[in-house]
Amino acid sequence: MNANIDFDRIDLDLPAPEKEPDRQYYFIAKCRRLVEDFKRENGRAPAACVFNMGCQMNARDSEKLSGILEQTGYELTQSEDADFVIYNTCTVRENANLKVYGRLGVLKTKKQKNPRMRIALCGCMMQEPQVVEKIRKSYGFVDLIFGTHNIYKFAELLYACLCGGDMVVDIWKDTDRIVENLPVERKYFFKSGVNIMFGCNNFCSYCIVPYVRGRERSREPREILREIERLVDDGVAEVMLLGQNVNSYGRNLDEPVTFAQLLREVEKIPGLARIRFMTSHPKDLSDELIETIANSQKICPHIHLPLQSGSSRILKIMNRHYTKEQYLTLVEKLRAAVPDISLTTDIIVGFPGETEEDFEETLDVVRKARFDSAFTFIYSRRTGTPAASMEDQVPQDVVKDRFDRLLAEVQRIAKETSARFTGQVLPVLVEEINAQDSALVTGRLASNLLVHFPGDASLIGKIVDVELTECKGFYYLGNVR
Ligand code: 5AD
Ligand code: SF4
Repeated sequence: MNANIDFDRIDLDLPAPEKEPDRQYYFIAKCRRLVEDFKRENGRAPAACVFNMGCQMNARDSEKLSGILEQTGYELTQSEDADFVIYNTCTVRENANLKVYGRLGVLKTKKQKNPRMRIALCGCMMQEPQVVEKIRKSYGFVDLIFGTHNIYKFAELLYACLCGGDMVVDIWKDTDRIVENLPVERKYFFKSGVNIMFGCNNFCSYCIVPYVRGRERSREPREILREIERLVDDGVAEVMLLGQNVNSYGRNLDEPVTFAQLLREVEKIPGLARIRFMTSHPKDLSDELIETIANSQKICPHIHLPLQSGSSRILKIMNRHYTKEQYLTLVEKLRAAVPDISLTTDIIVGFPGETEEDFEETLDVVRKARFDSAFTFIYSRRTGTPAASMEDQVPQDVVKDRFDRLLAEVQRIAKETSARFTGQVLPVLVEEINAQDSALVTGRLASNLLVHFPGDASLIGKIVDVELTECKGFYYLGNVR
């Protein structure tokens, strides 16, 4: 989706406007001039690589960065041998941070070969002061650093960075701003993420997100609906509504609305086929929402409901505000209202103080809830979170053993539950040509499971009825009906 702005008509002799998004349009126009100079000097457009390292929100942010780079005149590429490389980082677990430092080492060599190259870092990891300090000190070849709150200023920061000089660093602690109508370059033409809110107020004791994404801010329903209408006009069949805790959407708006109310409005948009959302927090999952899902023609029967732990004792220390029993009751309610609903989850093993008994409780919930799939994580100590300073950190070998046992159980159950559609004919949204076999296409069931079946590129973006002939564990083989 583009903002339909004629950037060439912006008068660059005037000072930059104060108002957003006009200010960013002005800087896009300024960057376009620099890109034109580059083209004249080099006989080609400069290349830009946006590298996404995080969650779905992060991926959506990367589409915004790509949209601005594209409007500026860059050619987007997957290769890090580009003239502008930006890493959109994640910091939810320490591994993510280590990956960034490793890749920066490689970029340094590339920059030595191409001194015109510009390197930028943004995203959650940049909201941590000690990270920025380390980059300033040890990675002086980085040209631009910004955080999660001022991503809307990317065009302005890009311009400063392209003008050369010292490392540009612009990190905000927090913001209450939401800037609408900036350009976006979608990865898929037929589906799109849509931010409905930013930030998180929950402060789960292990989690760094509230510190790096700031306080919860909801977008106005009319802005969300307008964005989705435009996306549908542009060929989008499926939207994924994104927020750290979508179930608390709308509470702090001037005119409060519930997430279920928003969903019912989204449902009315003609031409939209599928609605997904993530992430749901169990503590805020209302009966109204369950009823809305049950009555909907468009909301996919799939809910991602992070469990984190099955032990009520650990859940309390995690500050999750629900017990094992409450979680299981929710699962029962969901299954009663939407019989074929797919349930996926996140689970952490090795939270400080987790005993074998606590871990057994987690396994017990896994067996009772029978998740379609689960993301399992080894607890990662994040500086600044309450859990980081808790005593009783669990030894690595114990954690590893529990992790392996959990994964085996999750996979065994997921295999069984995934097979429940075998023999049925179900609608599949075709996403791409199969990466291994070009005679096949790959698409998704409403439940989110993948299906591979014979077909060609003309099917991409279409919803077709497919007979699910064989379940191969976590995906199906099928044939168009
Ligand atoms: N360690 C391990 N996993 C974590 N998550 C969040 N913080 C941590 C951490 N410190 C997991 C949670 C969350 C998912 C996005 O990441 O399970 O739901
Ligand atoms: Fe982190 Fe908890 Fe917020 Fe999710 S709800 S982002 S786990 S603090």
